[in-house]
Amino acid sequence: MGKVKVGVLGATGTVGQKFITLLKDHPFFDITDLVASERSKGKIYKEACSWKQEVDMPEQVKNMSVKSYDEHLEAKIFFSGLDANVAGEIETYLAEKGCVVISNSKNHRMDVDVPISIPEINPEHFEVCKHQKSKGFIVTNSNCSTMFLAIALAPLHKKFGIEKLIVSTMQAVSGAGYPGVPSLDILGNVVPFIGGEEEKIQIELKKMLGTYKDGKIVDADFVVSAHCNRVAVIDGHTETVSILFKNKPTVEQVKEILANFKTEVQDMDLPMSPEKPIVVMEEENRPQPRFDVLKHKGMATFVGRIRKCPVFDIKMVVLGHNTIRGAAGAAILNAEYMYKKGLLKDII
Ligand SMILES: NC(=O)c1ccc[n+]([C@@H]2O[C@H](COP(=O)([O-])OP(=O)(O)OC[C@H]3O[C@@H](n4cnc5c(N)ncnc54)[C@H](OP(=O)(O)O)[C@@H]3O)[C@@H](O)[C@H]2O)c1
Repeated sequence: MGKVKVGVLGATGTVGQKFITLLKDHPFFDITDLVASERSKGKIYKEACSWKQEVDMPEQVKNMSVKSYDEHLEAKIFFSGLDANVAGEIETYLAEKGCVVISNSKNHRMDVDVPISIPEINPEHFEVCKHQKSKGFIVTNSNCSTMFLAIALAPLHKKFGIEKLIVSTMQAVSGAGYPGVPSLDILGNVVPFIGGEEEKIQIELKKMLGTYKDGKIVDADFVVSAHCNRVAVIDGHTETVSILFKNKPTVEQVKEILANFKTEVQDMDLPMSPEKPIVVMEEENRPQPRFDVLKHKGMATFVGRIRKCPVFDIKMVVLGHNTIRGAAGAAILNAEYMYKKGLLKDII
C-alpha cells in the first residue's frame, strides 16, 4: 500500500508551516493538498507563504498550487492549522464530505462527540468519534498550553486524584501566529493577557483528563485557575503549576511516576512519538525554552523543579514546544496512532 494522501488546511500559517516541515519524507503520509484563504488561492506555495521555519521549505511543496477548501481535493485526511474565525465551518464541511480532520483550532474542541486527543493519556476518547453524524469525523488537539499540562498531570491525577490547581503560563510569541504580537508590545515586556486562553485551559484540561463512560466523556472533577502571559520567547510555553491532591503524594513519588511514565504509544514505532513523553529534569534552573524545548523532536513534555508547595501539595515547572507538541506534532501523532490502530481504514 502506498502512502496516505494528506492535506494541510491553513498551510501558509505558523502551524501549517510546521505541519509541512514535520511531514517531509513521512513514512505513512504524503502531502497532496495545501489549503489557505482566498488571499493565497491559486498562487504557488512559495509565493503565497512567508516561510518562517529554521529549515528550508521542502522542494515537494514549493511549486504546489494553494487551493480553496471547496474545490477538488485529493486527500481524505486533513491536518488543520486554520484561523479560528473560519476553522469551524471548513472542518465541518470536510467531515461531512467524508474526510478526517485533525484540528488545532478551538471551534470543535468542546463538542460532545469530538475528542481532544492525546494518544498517551486518553486513547479511549477516540471512541466518541463514532457518534459524529458526518461521513468523516473530526479529532482535535487542545490549545497549546493545555497540551503539556495535561500530559504532565495525567499520571498524577490517575494515581492521586487532583482536587484543584493553579497554573501561570509564560507563552512564546509563535503561539500568536504570524505576524502575531507587534514587536513594540512584546520586546522587553510581559503582556499579562491572552484573549480566551485562561478559559480554554480551565475547561479543556477537565475534558482531556475526563473518563470515557457509556459513549461519553465525563469531565474530571477538579477546579483549575489559569493565569496566561505572553513573553518575549520565540518557541516554547513555560508553565508554573501548584496542585492540591485528594491523596497526598511525596515529592519523590511525583518524580518517580512522571519519570517512569510510558504508554503503548512508545512501543508502536510511530515516527512522531518521543521516546519518553515526560522528561523530568533535576537541575535547579531547568527546564528552559532556549535550551530544552527542541530536544526529543520537540515532542516531550519537560517537568522540573518538583517540590513541596506550602499552599497546595506540590509545585513544579512544565515546558513544551507550542507549535510541535502543542500543535502540528501532536496532530501528526494522533494521525499516526489512528492509522496504526486501523481507525482510518474506512476513510482512506
Ligand atoms: N501558533 C501556535 O502555537 C498554535 C498552537 C496551537 C493551536 N493553534 C491554533 O491553530 C490555528 C492556526 O494558528 P496559527 O498560529 O498557525 O495562525 P496563522 O499563522 O495566523 O495562520 C492561519 C492560517 O489560516 C488561513 N486562513 C485564514 N483565513 C482563511 C479562510 N477564510 N479560508 C481558509 N484559510 C484561511 C491562513 O491563510 P492565508 O495565509 O491565506 O491568510 C493561514 O494559513 C489557530 O486556530 C490557533 O489558535 C496555534
